[in-house]
Amino acid sequence: MDVVTRWCDAARGGAQRLGVFAALAAGSQDAEAMAARLGCKPRRLRALLDVLAATGDLARASSPSATEAPGARLVAEVIARDRPLGAADGEALRREARALPVGPLLGERTGLPKHELAALIAPELDADATFLDAGGGLGDVSAEIARLLPAVRVVLVDLPAVAAAATRRLGRAVSVLAGDLRRAPLPAARVALLGNVLHMHGPEGAAGIVAAVATAVSAGGLLVAKDLDRTTLPGLLFNLGAALYADDGEVHDEARVTAWLTAAGLAVERRVVLPFAPEAYVLCARQC
Ligand SMILES: C[S@@+](CC[C@H](N)C(=O)[O-])C[C@H]1O[C@@H](n2cnc3c(N)ncnc32)[C@H](O)[C@@H]1O
Repeated sequence: MDVVTRWCDAARGGAQRLGVFAALAAGSQDAEAMAARLGCKPRRLRALLDVLAATGDLARASSPSATEAPGARLVAEVIARDRPLGAADGEALRREARALPVGPLLGERTGLPKHELAALIAPELDADATFLDAGGGLGDVSAEIARLLPAVRVVLVDLPAVAAAATRRLGRAVSVLAGDLRRAPLPAARVALLGNVLHMHGPEGAAGIVAAVATAVSAGGLLVAKDLDRTTLPGLLFNLGAALYADDGEVHDEARVTAWLTAAGLAVERRVVLPFAPEAYVLCARQC
């Protein structure tokens, strides 16, 4: 069974365990009304309802019982208690979580999107330019830019533990800085990349990151924001994963991300879908 089918079964089963379909039949039409009826909070429930709407389960009068699907109990329990899987949870829930990994929902696993992104970015970088990989993780894209354009200054900024691991992994071709993007001094850059960073934060945190990184982009430069697309099923499943495993991460509406870019003084001039990451979009926004 592929990972998307497994997630969909867990979502359906979790919904049955929570009483979502019964609440729907009793007239609860939106997440707020249903949360009030089920006695839970709407935010995580909304992530589940979005998946069920996309799979067609909400529109169907009945669906095959999936209450025993691997992961169904995790979905129901986390939404009912409004708290993500954590250190205090026992082996039974951890086993459920192993059945529902988020990584395989992403095209990143093929390793190919980093080449596609680097190819998108490279033509923007002159020999003496600076490329900022904001929240660059272990530096897949940074390493690729450094390989393609050895004269470009490549700077990766990430939180301290990740930055330490990136420093160990990357050679001298990439300068790694440790810090929170919202507070750390960022180098002026011709191109800054926010690759799969915004979904790790709620709206306030993500907007703050866009604003901070935008200030680092020099006039005429580009901020490239890549993140999961909520209009795709993998994007919605990833959003449900954020609800299960994280405190405040979520996959943001593209319109919302565009509004943050615009508010930061950037103009979105291009939207790209990478062939090997069809569950994500890339927005290229120019600093005016
Ligand atoms: C999903 S990973 C993506 C890594 C890389 N950009 C990529 O696409 O492969 C998100 C990264 O953003 C970093 N990150 C999230 N919030 C951050 C913040 N406020 N400041 C610095 N880094 C942050 C995380 O530590 C993590 O390494």
